[in-house]
Amino acid sequence: MEGVTAIYPGSFDPVTNGHLDLIERGTKIFTRLIVAVLRNTEKQPLFTLSERVEMMQEATRAFPNVEVDAFDGLLVDYARRLGAHILLRGIRAVSDYEFELQMAMMNRKLEPRIETVFMLPGEAYSYLSSRLVREIAQLGGPVTGLVPPSVEQRLRAKVT
Ligand code: PNS
Repeated sequence: MEGVTAIYPGSFDPVTNGHLDLIERGTKIFTRLIVAVLRNTEKQPLFTLSERVEMMQEATRAFPNVEVDAFDGLLVDYARRLGAHILLRGIRAVSDYEFELQMAMMNRKLEPRIETVFMLPGEAYSYLSSRLVREIAQLGGPVTGLVPPSVEQRLRAKVT
């Protein structure tokens, strides 16, 4: 396919409206956006890999240039296999910057041909994270407006 392919990697445990905001922005500048769901997260995920992939597929159905995939191992190896040269990451606040800089620099050290592109989600999502969504849901709080309705249902089913 002509144009620029970017990979948007993450744990997506679960996908939030902040991730979707970034994906929508990404679809406007990249020809093809591959959302890559990490198989083995260091932390024990609340949702299985197939649940996380399914939720992402449901949530991104409206974007014709988005594909959802799962990956394992080094992100740069996965990108090389796909022939993609761009990694997309979101930065919500200054607090994200340090870790993101470290990862981007390490990925550049591992594979200098791959560039990391940072985008900013809408400010309404600047305080939103999968970790807080999981915590709120597990403690019986409302997550309406923070995640897509299908994810809200799955969260409710998971914690009851
Ligand atoms: O949504 P997250 O958990 O912040 O995403 C982190 C992710 C998946 C981008 C990162 O953990 C990753 O790339 N993992 C794959 C293993 C890897 O390549 N590690 C070296 C990174 S410098």
